[in-house]
Order: sequence, then C-alpha cells, then structure tokens
Amino acid sequence: MTSTQEQLAGTAALRFPAGFRWGAATASYQIEGAATEDGRMPSIWDTFSRTPGRVFEGHSGDVACDHYHRYRDDVALMAQLGLGTYRFSLAWPRIKPDGSGPVNPRGLDFYDRLVDELLTHGIDPMVTLYHWDLPQVLEDRGGWTNRDTAHYLADLAAAAVDRLGDRVATWTTLNEPWCSAFLGYASGDHAPGRQDPKAAFEAVHHLMLGHGLAVRALRAGGAREVSLTLNLTDSRPANPADPHDVAAARQIDGLQNRLFLEPALRGRYPQDMLALFERFGAADVIRPGDLDVIAAPIDLLGVNYYQPALVRARIGATCGLPNPGTEGAEFVRQNAPVTAMDWPVDPTGLSGLLLRLAADYPETPLMVTENGAAYADVVEDGRVADADRVAYLDGHLRAAHAAIEGGADLRGYLAWSLMDNFEWGYGYGKRFGLVHVDYDTQRRVPKDSAHWYAAVIGRNGLD
Ligand code: FCB
Repeated sequence: MTSTQEQLAGTAALRFPAGFRWGAATASYQIEGAATEDGRMPSIWDTFSRTPGRVFEGHSGDVACDHYHRYRDDVALMAQLGLGTYRFSLAWPRIKPDGSGPVNPRGLDFYDRLVDELLTHGIDPMVTLYHWDLPQVLEDRGGWTNRDTAHYLADLAAAAVDRLGDRVATWTTLNEPWCSAFLGYASGDHAPGRQDPKAAFEAVHHLMLGHGLAVRALRAGGAREVSLTLNLTDSRPANPADPHDVAAARQIDGLQNRLFLEPALRGRYPQDMLALFERFGAADVIRPGDLDVIAAPIDLLGVNYYQPALVRARIGATCGLPNPGTEGAEFVRQNAPVTAMDWPVDPTGLSGLLLRLAADYPETPLMVTENGAAYADVVEDGRVADADRVAYLDGHLRAAHAAIEGGADLRGYLAWSLMDNFEWGYGYGKRFGLVHVDYDTQRRVPKDSAHWYAAVIGRNGLD
C-alpha cells in the first residue's frame, strides 16, 4: 500500500502540522434557548418551528441546550476536551431585535461574557455572523430576496466587531449560503419555508453581496482573520465514462460549489449559473459593481463536509426542489454505510474536495469548519459507546491528512458538533454531538468520541 492508502485504511499513525487548529462548532439557534430573554425577538426559525408540520414533532429552539444560561459549564467542558478553537454563531435577533435598527446591548453582553469565558480557558473564539436565524421582521420585508438585507448584515458585522473585535481574531460572514438560499427559498425544507426558485437565486446573490459587505465592515472594524464557510459537495458522475453523467455531476457542482466559490474567490458567476439566474428571472438583482464587493479577499475558506454526491443523467429525472434547473439529472444512492441521517459515509469525498480547492484556489487557506455524524446514541451506565462516530471522525481526519500531504493548505478541523442540539427540520431527533445532552435534565455526558477526540487533540494526530 502507498502511504496515502494506508492512511485512509486507518492503519498508519499520523501527525498534523504544528499549529493545526482543533475545535468544535455550534450555532446560536441550535443550542442557546432563552428565545425571549434579554430583548431577543423571533427569528425565521422561531416562526418556522411554530408552524405545524415543519419540524419533527413540533420541536423548537425555545430551550434547546439552554446554553445561554449554561455557557460557563459548556466552556469548562470544551476545556476538558482540550479544544483550541470554538466556532459559534451570533443570534442576529438578540443583537438587533428589529433586524436593522439599534443594537440591543444585552444581546451583545451575552457574547461578550462567552468570549471572555473562552479566553480565560485558552480557547480561541471563532464567530459566525449568520448561521440561519434571520430576524423575522426582515423576512416580513422579503428576507434574502430583499437587497437591503445584505446591508443589514454588514451593519450587524460592524456592531459585532466593534464590541468583540478586541478579543475575537477570526470571523466568518455566512454559514452555508446554499442552505439559506435553496433549502430556505426553493425547497422550503428550512425557514422561511418558501418554494420559489426565483426567490432562491435572488437570495443567493443577496447572501453573497451581504458576505462581501460584511467582509468590508469586519476589516474596517479591525478583524484580523475573515472567512466564509460553504457546504461543498464532491459531486461525482455515477459513470465517469458517460459524458451525460459527467454533465449531470457538473450541474450539481455548479449549484452547490461553483455558484458560491467563483463569485467569492474569482469575482464572477460561472456561465452555466448565470444562465440559471436568467432562466428563473433573477438576473436583474446582479448590479454593476456587486461582484467586486463579493470578491473582497478573505483569509480562510471554511469547508463543511458530510457526504459526497453521486449523480447520473436520466431523461425525466431531476435532483429535486433544492436543486432548480437539474432536469435530466438525479442523485444515485451510493453503496456505502449510512449515518442516522441516511447520509453515506465516504471520507474520500473530503480529501477529493480539499485537493480540488487547493488546485483551483491555491491562494486561499482552508479549514474544515464542520464535519461529523448523527447516530442513535444511548447513555448506558453513564457512558455513550459511539464507536461508529469515532470511526467516522477517524476516517475523515485521515482523509484531511491525506489532503494536506497532497498539498492542501488545511489549517484546522472543527467537529460538528460540540454537543447534541436542535438539528433544524429534524428537531432533537438527530444527535451530532461529541457530548450527549439529556433534554429533560440538561445533563451533559461526553460520549466515547469526545474522549477519543481529546486524545487526538492531545497528540495532534492519530495512532
Ligand atoms: C450543517 C449545518 C449545521 C448542522 C449540520 C449537521 O449543514 O451548518 O448547523 O445542522 O449541517
């Protein structure tokens, strides 16, 4: 076996480069709870989760992990695990309850306390401005289909960096704009639950414009490291020898990858994606000068990776509502074990993606900002024996390491997620945490994977 094969097969010990950043990630609506406290107003997820039939068993983020009140204990837990970086997001409707107006100081106070607590424990805070909880008042004015929302995101960025920028070095504008646009506005699986492909493409552009404007605001406020996190997909033709399958896989690559990578890193939309803006009647939201704003240089690209996509051509098929314009293409089930989300486990998708990014955008350092798996965990005698999650993480870390050896400038890895939490449309039904949460008692129990991950961090590698 070559050393790369050995690594992927899990047979070799390996070490990551010195200074590699290890951590875990969460998002505000998924963990905070305290939905009406200290002046917080509803977000689109509060509305969505109150709408019958939208979220599994009517769950909502009203209480979630009660992290708003338990953040000290949670930070202590992070320190126990040896995390060097903690990625979390700001709840926009806490900080600007009416979306665009004055800052609510009590909203920022919470993040101020959290940041101080992290720093006291030697953990670097990494702040995401927008992880999907748009103030409902802004959705009432069109949400991401309204260009003003992009400017309001920049205002949020300015307020946040003004208050936290002296202690927070690393900032991320958006988490997974593909989900915000296509799950939010095309398929309606996510808040605000609209099903309108034109609105989805308008949302894409305004999210990206918001990203660019927020980058400017963060830089003006002295942010040291600015990033964007995308959920990227290693999109593969079912039959690489069939040109129709290759074209079908490229269509998904366009929608899920190039539609976001190219404007942010190259200042242009790809031709095939511009054709979709045109086709769905959304092209006129792209105004002269916008792409220059969107392409403001960033210091780090965050990659969220869970599973690859296998795509084939078939007349009469489509890749479904979240992927407008994919007539003649469809996803194919991969022959691989699956997680509790029914997502195939295939770490080669991660190495493939990182190497492709390194080849296409060699100037941009990378960080895995989310990677992890849901399994049906149970606590037995105070222990969660989640060997499948350990195997998932081990395989993906080996893939990440193989990509580094292949030349990818990968700076860090953040597990999704620190603890079990509100998994959007799946409510509390899916558990992604390293730490188990009992939602009745709010008791936290580090799973076997948490202890395993702590050892990985401790030795900066795998044995
Ligand atoms: C990502 C989201 C994150 C979490 C994981 C499982 O798409 O960014 O909030 O839900 O999936």
